[in-house]
Amino acid sequence: MVDSNADNWTPDSWKSKPVSQQIKYGDPQALAQVVEKLCQLPPLVSSSEVDTLKQRIAEAQRGERFILQGGDCAESFKDCNADAISQKVRSLLSLSLLVSQKTQMPVTRIGRIAGQYAKPRSVLTETQGDITLASYRGDLVNHIHFSESARTPDPARMLEGYSYASLTINYIRSLLEGELEELFNLEPEMTSLQELASHKQLHQSLRNFTEALQLFHQFNGRQTAHKNLTEFYTSHEALHLHYEQALTRQANNGHWYNLSTHFPWVGMRTVQSESAHLEYLRGIANPIAIKVGPTVQPHELVQLCRWLNPQNEAGRLTLIQRFGHTKITEKLPALITAIQDADIKVLWSCDPMHGNTQVSTGDYKTRDYQHIQSELQQAFDIHNAHDSHLGALHLEMTGEAVMECVGSTYGVKHQELGKAYTSLVDPRLNLSQAFELIDSLNLKQEQKAADKQQKP
Ligand code: PEP
Ligand code: CO
Repeated sequence: MVDSNADNWTPDSWKSKPVSQQIKYGDPQALAQVVEKLCQLPPLVSSSEVDTLKQRIAEAQRGERFILQGGDCAESFKDCNADAISQKVRSLLSLSLLVSQKTQMPVTRIGRIAGQYAKPRSVLTETQGDITLASYRGDLVNHIHFSESARTPDPARMLEGYSYASLTINYIRSLLEGELEELFNLEPEMTSLQELASHKQLHQSLRNFTEALQLFHQFNGRQTAHKNLTEFYTSHEALHLHYEQALTRQANNGHWYNLSTHFPWVGMRTVQSESAHLEYLRGIANPIAIKVGPTVQPHELVQLCRWLNPQNEAGRLTLIQRFGHTKITEKLPALITAIQDADIKVLWSCDPMHGNTQVSTGDYKTRDYQHIQSELQQAFDIHNAHDSHLGALHLEMTGEAVMECVGSTYGVKHQELGKAYTSLVDPRLNLSQAFELIDSLNLKQEQKAADKQQKP
């Protein structure tokens, strides 16, 4: 039996490396007890599902499929209820149909869901008036309320997080077995977006989409969802390594899998070479992703890829680029070329959100729709110009009627942010904005691929 997927790796070998964004618990014994308990609890996903997703990602790498990954910046425990979960699943499924139409490819959906409970922070403390406390680090760690006790990390929250993730995934599975008419129904979201701001126009592509669905249901009646149409995977940032380690299990094939989620990724703040987070990722058999920001140098990226995927296995590694709309043109081409020259297999994914965050009046974190759109379009154009393939999109989005990102046809103004802002950390696109974003894309590359196929 193979002991691990990588040399000198164990589920806890990360502990010998520097841990950035470390969570400091006051009572190590309480932490150890929680980890032990988590180790005994059943996994949330199966290794065969994880393997299937890896194949899907390999297809996307080859340009035969597109991956849409999306959801909240930070999921909250209180969102573990039927309406919120259903809304997230329906929104992502519906948006994926538009993505499929746009890219002319089958689309696989991955939610930032059922475990997106831990957050890295640029600033680890928060000051209000003359009081400074630890920053909110996600529901898996502490509570968002601004008080000493709420902000003190509590290991028992990991058990709660496990339970909520488990309930969420259980409900997602049952939803996906349901009827198409219910799964592809955005009427409640449309209504609440319109009620939120009656003078605002929902984007035409969202209106067309819902009309087409209504017709479809009218003509085809109730039908049980087909698996291909509703394949759905989960993902979260593998930030809290005690939690991730406890849910890491050895499958019958001898490989170790993180079975808390299908697709763990490591964020920009923990992606340094030799970091504990990369050490952890290196040994699990899941498809994995790393965020790639503007400070990563081409030779470093090549090294990281080789370290995380020494066999150059297809589907194993996704690079989620997130530069910002003003930096992408300067930063991306050299990285693409380095990966091509080294003959490294990766899936390129564009996250047009995290490089475009700004602080608005009233201290609201926001993102301008124009900047998001611009970075995403540039991403497609640059890959296209370099004969590289952008095969995935990573969005922070929600079906909730929010106004967190400014701009778009829906026309959110800076001074309106206080009106409907529920994100616990970063601003998300609402459904009108997300539909508009996909609709706005000019995908010449697909034309190029079609042209190539037509040539004898
Ligand atoms: C995130 O995805 O919420 C995040 C914090 O991203 P990044 O690591 O790219 O900043
Ligand atoms: Co975020």
